[in-house]
Amino acid sequence: MKKKQPTQILLGPVPPALIACGNGTENNILTLAWVGVVNSSPPMISAAIRPNRYSHDLIRDTGEFTVNLPNIDQVALTDGCGTLSGRDLNKFEHFKVTAVKGTLEYAPMIDQCPISMECKVEHTLELGSHTVFIGRVVASYAAEEVVDEKGGIDFRRCRLLGFCAGSYLQTDPLDLSIGYTLKNKS
Ligand SMILES: Cc1cc2nc3c(=O)[nH]c(=O)nc-3n(C[C@H](O)[C@H](O)[C@H](O)COP(=O)(O)O)c2cc1C
Repeated sequence: MKKKQPTQILLGPVPPALIACGNGTENNILTLAWVGVVNSSPPMISAAIRPNRYSHDLIRDTGEFTVNLPNIDQVALTDGCGTLSGRDLNKFEHFKVTAVKGTLEYAPMIDQCPISMECKVEHTLELGSHTVFIGRVVASYAAEEVVDEKGGIDFRRCRLLGFCAGSYLQTDPLDLSIGYTLKNKS
């Protein structure tokens, strides 16, 4: 196979995540494409955030954030939280979404998102353009209607939003299936 060297390093498609944070006085949300699961035991998630984002210092100072996965009806919320800054407006009020408190002291979750995870920062890596906050997932929640009979998440029911190369996508796992499923789980 002949290869070329692309101009950007990109993984895609990815699930854009709404990262919520707060300091007791104000709450904020920013959209991240660069989020990932980095450990299973204990469960940990990474969030790569540029230092100039308003959310950056809120997360650094409180050591808390939540990861909220939007569905396809929340594309305007996702795009807006990724283009407007909490320096200029309150995104919870502007987009009429509800901040709900879970077990964390400061960072709220977004009630309207089907899946939310509460994270406490355990490692902070300043890599250059981005700071990577690695958070331990201390609690996770899924809307009743997306949980199946066995207690797992039925991703078909979540209708999660995807993102790739500047475009938002739907990620319905059955519509996108190529009919090949995991053979051996390790
Ligand atoms: C789809 C999408 C993905 C984004 N991914 C990232 C990211 O991974 N890291 C980052 O620092 N900013 C990312 N951004 C930009 C921030 O979300 C944006 O600068 C936001 O307005 C910052 O909000 P704040 O200043 O209130 O923290 C992304 C924006 C969009 C729309």
